[in-house]
This record gives sequence, structure tokens and C-alpha cells, in this order.
Amino acid sequence: GAAEIGLIGLGTMGGNLALNIAENGFSIAVFNRTVAKTDSFFASAGPLADKIVPTKTLQDFVASIKKPRAVILMVPAGEAVDAQIAALRPLLDSDDLIIDAGNANYHDTNRRNDDAKASGTRFMGIGVSGGEEGARFGPSIMAGGPTDAWDQVGHILEAISAKHGDVPCAAHLGDSGAGHLVKTVHNGIEYADMQMIAEVYGVMRDGFGMSAAEIGDVFDQWNGGILQSYLIEISAKVAKTADPDSGNPMLDIILDRAGQKGTGRWTAIEALMLGTPASAIEAAVAARTMSARLDERKKGEAVFGAAPAAVDKAAIATSMLEAALVAGKIVCYAQGFGLILEAAKQYGWAMPLPEIAKIWREGCIIRSAMLNDMADALAEDPERNLMLAPFFADKLKDTHDALRKVVAEGALKGLPVPALSSALSYFDIMRTQRSTANMLQGQRDFFGAHGFERTDKDGSGYHGPWAMNAG
Ligand code: 6PG
Repeated sequence: GAAEIGLIGLGTMGGNLALNIAENGFSIAVFNRTVAKTDSFFASAGPLADKIVPTKTLQDFVASIKKPRAVILMVPAGEAVDAQIAALRPLLDSDDLIIDAGNANYHDTNRRNDDAKASGTRFMGIGVSGGEEGARFGPSIMAGGPTDAWDQVGHILEAISAKHGDVPCAAHLGDSGAGHLVKTVHNGIEYADMQMIAEVYGVMRDGFGMSAAEIGDVFDQWNGGILQSYLIEISAKVAKTADPDSGNPMLDIILDRAGQKGTGRWTAIEALMLGTPASAIEAAVAARTMSARLDERKKGEAVFGAAPAAVDKAAIATSMLEAALVAGKIVCYAQGFGLILEAAKQYGWAMPLPEIAKIWREGCIIRSAMLNDMADALAEDPERNLMLAPFFADKLKDTHDALRKVVAEGALKGLPVPALSSALSYFDIMRTQRSTANMLQGQRDFFGAHGFERTDKDGSGYHGPWAMNAG
């Protein structure tokens, strides 16, 4: 075979990735279970068709690829991946590499990697972010798997990735499921970023009574400052777009029930399993879940009435909303990077945190100017809570009061700000030396003799004199 790489699964993401690979000068064999899809893909490839080898059977597909082969799977995450591996593996040589580029749960990737190692074959899981655009013109690529796998295809993944200046947004982050874990956390952060933007949108819409177009202008303005990011940019565009049918703002017509495919939820689950706080991300996942309960919310409003909502513009200005978002964003990334660090320790993965911040600077959904400063802060000390890096500590000193006022005003006026409020609680807990967990320890010892440590003596396993007030 002559093709440098192969790709199975010509859905939107897979097709775009294949075109991206071809455009970067690599010949690519493609296969899709439905042959008609392969035909239409090939027919629409234009001048890139030169680099594309369409195949009709898995046997032809495998025979078209140069050895040692590398095959990218872009099929729906879950059982389809296992089925595809099972069909493909017997046709491959043991040193051929299968690369799962879907949004896999990293536990599945760990398992597939273990299976590959046990059978003396090779497997890699890569997280690919950036949606359809990214796949076609340069995604952010988070790779996990054995080093020799990266050595084989790293140059191709770097070539097709987005670039920050001339730095590729693709990197090998560790063995096994490391890449998919990082992609999962990326999506968790994405959920929190989006939710916090939606929360300040709510303050402007319901608190200030601003129109969608006015809100879009505010987002546009923010996009010229410290919050410069893809998500703020598209939020402005979403807010300023009119419905072609009615002429009304599109945003006012979109039903307020959020979908979710599961990666944000996985982040929250992993945070709980690994014992690392990701409360702002958890709040964002819960907010989507609550949004889906339209009928229940309607009944709730009928019983309790709508919240008072109107916010005095003298109490909080839009600049305060911007500052609150800055503070919330720092907290949510501190939590996300903390989660990745914990997973790295648990699994013994390399997980270079500054590198992760760098490959998120372009191509992916959470790309933003602030990631550049995060890369610098993490390079100084990857183990330190991002909140404590001098650059971000200064930013938080400047903004946490605004976050507090926005959350307080939201609470008073019945405007829900769950992610911002979780971020504030995290900030307040993590800046308090003497917490209230002494009470928890007292309670645990009282009802279960679980023992506690003391502030005035070394050692553990102390008990209180509870017996005297029992009963
Ligand atoms: C990306 C996105 C991408 C996709 C998510 C959306 O990084 O390109 O995160 O993976 O848009 O699956 O997730 P939800 O459907 O859960 O919002």
C-alpha cells in the first residue's frame, strides 16, 4: 500500500479530518461502512482527491496503507469503537497502530490500551477538539498512548493541528487514556465557561432588561479585553443574530433546554472519583440537567411565582459582570488543571500541564487569550493551584469582590448563578486557613468514634469526652 495513513468513519468530523490530512500533503486511505458515503466523500474532495484513496472493503483499506500502518477511527464513541477494533485487528500486523479519535471515555481507552498491550498490538486515544471547523482546518489534539505510537504519527498530528504562531496545538500527554482524560476535562471546562457566560447573560436579560442585541454588544466589547476567547466571541454572534423568519433575535426563540452528550458529566464523575474539587464544573453540569426539566420549572413558577429579578444598575455594572467572569474562569481552570494533575498522579502519566495549556490556545472550543498566561503560570510550578500563581492571584484580588457582588445580587433577586456561586465558594474556602471541618470531625467522632487530629498536639486518633453528654 501507498497511503501514509488510513481513516475509518466519514461522518462530518471524520470526513473533515481526512481532508485536513490530505491538504497537509499526506496520502490517506478512507473507509466507511456505507460505501455510498465513501463515494460521495471522494466525489466532493475536489483537488484533494489526488491524496485520497477511497476503499470499499476493510481488506482493500488495509492493503492500501503503508506499513507499519496507522489507522484513525472516527466512529461514535462506545460500542462502535470496540466493534470496529474487533473487525480491523485481525487484518492488521501486530505493529500496526489503531488511533481512536472520538470522544471516548478515558476508562474505555485505558481498557483498549491494556487489551492492545496484552495482545502485543498498538493503540492510541486522541482527544480532538474544535468541532467541524477545527477538524477541517486545525483542531487541538490531545494524544495519549505509548511513546512509539506518538513517534510514528506525531508529525502528522502536529501538521494537521491548529497553530499558535508556529507552535502546533498537538501534544503527547502520557500513556493510555491520558489524551482522552484531558479532552474530557477540556469539555468539563467548556461546560463551566459556557454556563458562566449564560449566567451573566441572565443577569443582563432578566436583571437589567437588556435586549439580545445589546447583550451581544457587551460580549463583543469583552472580547477585546482579558476575556478574549472563542466562546465570548460566538456568544456575541449568537446574541446579535436575527431569526430569518420573524426578524426577532434568534436567542429569544431558542428553547432553553440544554443538550449534553456526556463528557461534561464524566468530568464531574472523575472529579468525585479522584477526590479533587471541580465544583464549578459540577454546577455547570447540574445546570444543564435542570434546564432539561422544562415542565417542572413551569410548575415551579406557577407555585412560587417568578423571582423579582430587576437589578439596580447602580448595584452592579456590566464591568462587574466582566470581572466576575474573570474570577469564575480562573477558578474553573484551577479546578480543571487540579483534576488533570490528580489523574496524572493516580495513573503515573506524564501530563505536562503547561503543554496542555499551550495546545488549548488555538483550535479547541475553550481557546482564549488567558490560556497563554496559564501556560506561563503552570510552567513556573505545575503542582501549585493556579489561583496561587502570582499573575492569577493578582487578577483574583482585583475581581473576587465583583464576583461576590454579582452572586449576592443574584441571590437577592432570584437570578440563578450556580457556576459563579460555586466558584466563589471554592475561592472563599481555599483562602480560609481555619475551615469549619473541625465540626465535621467532632460529629464523626461523636457518632462513630472516628477519631480526630488536634491543633495543639501531634498525632491522630484523638477522641472527645462525648460519653459524658451522651443520652
Ligand atoms: C469540542 C467539543 C465537542 C462537542 C461536544 C459537545 O471540543 O470540539 O467539546 O467535543 O461539541 O461533544 O458536548 P455536549 O453535546 O455534551 O455539549
